[in-house]
Amino acid sequence: MVDVSVKSTKDGPNLVVVDGQTKFAFCRCGHSNNKPFCDGSHRKAEFKAEEKETKIV
Ligand code: FES
Repeated sequence: MVDVSVKSTKDGPNLVVVDGQTKFAFCRCGHSNNKPFCDGSHRKAEFKAEEKETKIV
């Protein structure tokens, strides 16, 4: 059985985590120049958001 979750990081991207390993980092601040992926622009944009983890499988 594969363990899949989406981790919304504090003030950062949504991470797709499979069996404990981060596979993708998706932008949720809207400032990335490489959408849908996070490129670190959330830091410069001073994006603020809460941390949350959602189990998918
Ligand atoms: S969350 Fe990192 S660039 Fe948007």
